[in-house]
Amino acid sequence: MAKLIAGNWKMYKTPSEAKTWFQDLVKELPSTANAALMVPFTALPYAAEILEGYAAWGAQDVSVHVEGAYTGEISAKMLADLGCSYCLVGHSERRTYHGESDSLVAQKALRLQEVGITPIVCVGEPLEVREAGKQVKYTLEQLAKSTQGLDRFVVAYEPVWAIGTGKTASSEDANAMHQALKETLPGGTAVLYGGSVNPGNASSLFAESYIDGGLVGGASLKIADYLQLLAAAVG
Ligand code: 13P
Repeated sequence: MAKLIAGNWKMYKTPSEAKTWFQDLVKELPSTANAALMVPFTALPYAAEILEGYAAWGAQDVSVHVEGAYTGEISAKMLADLGCSYCLVGHSERRTYHGESDSLVAQKALRLQEVGITPIVCVGEPLEVREAGKQVKYTLEQLAKSTQGLDRFVVAYEPVWAIGTGKTASSEDANAMHQALKETLPGGTAVLYGGSVNPGNASSLFAESYIDGGLVGGASLKIADYLQLLAAAVG
């Protein structure tokens, strides 16, 4: 089985743009690909209609509440009804711009687990922590607190300084971090790498034994680039 390449579209593509993109993708997607797309909430109905049988899909965030008077929120049950297999929680952009704490992230992940959606729990150190050489300790602590009470989840290691910057951890550095993370995780827990993954660096990252796939922002927006990443993950 190929390594999983999860695209994170962030706040890009209108529903109509997403619909056309999904229709174009399925025409070209090889059967060997292991693809998942984390798209804006508004694109999920089209994902459910078009990607079934080709790729998995999911959301980028979920409410911590089960249901109720929470204006603007989207519940885990709503995502399950739209066929989501995965949902991101604790992406660094949500931690930074929305002040999400480790315990909130863990609670959101529990809401997903309760409805059978696999949380993709995002962790990773900021630049100053990396420069101080404390990235393993920092990330392990963040992971432990962000996964409290969970029993089935995927981890995405995304060093904050590598997100959207064009800088990536070297394959060896990323692999060493993944090894450290996997040593503390239940056996079989997948750890994806994220942060400026692109067609130029994908093969060397995905050749590493502890890197189980990628979580990809910018390079998941163009079909040609995304197809190259999927091919690199087949090995
Ligand atoms: P980029 O691939 O654009 O660096 O984004 C990484 C990311 O944040 C994926 O969740």
